[in-house]
Amino acid sequence: MKTRKNLKKSDVKILAFETSFDETAASVLQGDVKSSKPKFKFLSSVLKTQIEIHKKTGGVVPEVAARAHIQNILPITEAALAGAKLQLEDMDYIAVTSGPGLVVSLIVGTEFAKGLALATGIPLLPTNHMEGHLYSAFTHKPDKVKFPTLSVMVSGNHTMFVLMKDYKTYKVIGNTVDDAAGEAFDKVARLLKLPYPGGPEISKLALLGKTDLNFPRPMLDKQHFDFSFSGLKTAVLYHVEKLAGKGKKKRSLTKQQKADIAMSFENAVADVITKKAERAVKKYKAKTVSLSGGVAANKKLRAELAQMCKQNKIAFSVADFELCTDNAQMIALAAYFNLRAGRKPKPPGQVKADPAWELS
Ligand code: KG4
Ligand code: ZN
Repeated sequence: MKTRKNLKKSDVKILAFETSFDETAASVLQGDVKSSKPKFKFLSSVLKTQIEIHKKTGGVVPEVAARAHIQNILPITEAALAGAKLQLEDMDYIAVTSGPGLVVSLIVGTEFAKGLALATGIPLLPTNHMEGHLYSAFTHKPDKVKFPTLSVMVSGNHTMFVLMKDYKTYKVIGNTVDDAAGEAFDKVARLLKLPYPGGPEISKLALLGKTDLNFPRPMLDKQHFDFSFSGLKTAVLYHVEKLAGKGKKKRSLTKQQKADIAMSFENAVADVITKKAERAVKKYKAKTVSLSGGVAANKKLRAELAQMCKQNKIAFSVADFELCTDNAQMIALAAYFNLRAGRKPKPPGQVKADPAWELS
């Protein structure tokens, strides 16, 4: 393994990788790790989506995803460096999502980054995917964010409330007990026979909805901040079965019936998250609500939370649309904030893909 001189300068360049599920992505960030307020810029961001591949099977087949990552990761790395007009040797750190996620996907990025770090001596920062989502909501005026901040993270596998005292100190105050919001979107989309990925399809269809079917609001009456969306999904299933009938007399749902279901489902999810967020804002006296994760691309949820923040006279900080679903910019950003917090790189030999690495 090559060794590199100790870093003295406070402005660092980070090459980050994200391969935790079905997107292969790399990004270069330049930032000051010693400045009193966060100061960074993205020099490049490249993403190769696997949506077209997984559309054929209506979902992600793990081995297929891993093979696509293997094919994509080297060209993506070259493109990210070229986009930043820099060479690998110019990088001060390599960051990689090493968990949580799909293990075969995580392994590709993690082992690739380990190889690069070993060959070049560039320090390696294993980075948590959800920490990436957490920080992705703070790319605009990060020095102006008021704490405490309630961070609402809604992705394919997680629905989380995280209370941030500042950029370094946070704790999870609510989590998914069964299906995450994104998972529920995807399952309901499948029930309605919509193409993969389901979330964006549901939100498109919901715009045509006319009648709210009043689906249940799971756990809204509970004082804690945990979430459960599997009951809501089951309520949608029963409704679909009622409309479609059974056996030989089974009918296809009309577009309007599907649109009403999509709208009612979306309303229920947005309502539960927003009302629980309002309760958490009041309890913890939050001055900002942030929103991130794939489901944060949902316009209804963005609008409801923005409205709630306005009513409570607090700030709302939401991830840009392209930073909601998985990307490498958020991983570079999490690595940057971790460096500012004093987190040290790990020897590549000690880094392992950890599919169950949960925030605490
Ligand atoms: O954060 P993400 O890209 O991956 C995980 O870390 O899980 O989130 C993916 C999830 C999927 O479940 C997808 O259906 C959902 O985000 N999603 C949406 C929208 N766009 C993506 N859900 C609702 N509305 C959207 N517009
Ligand atoms: Zn994600």
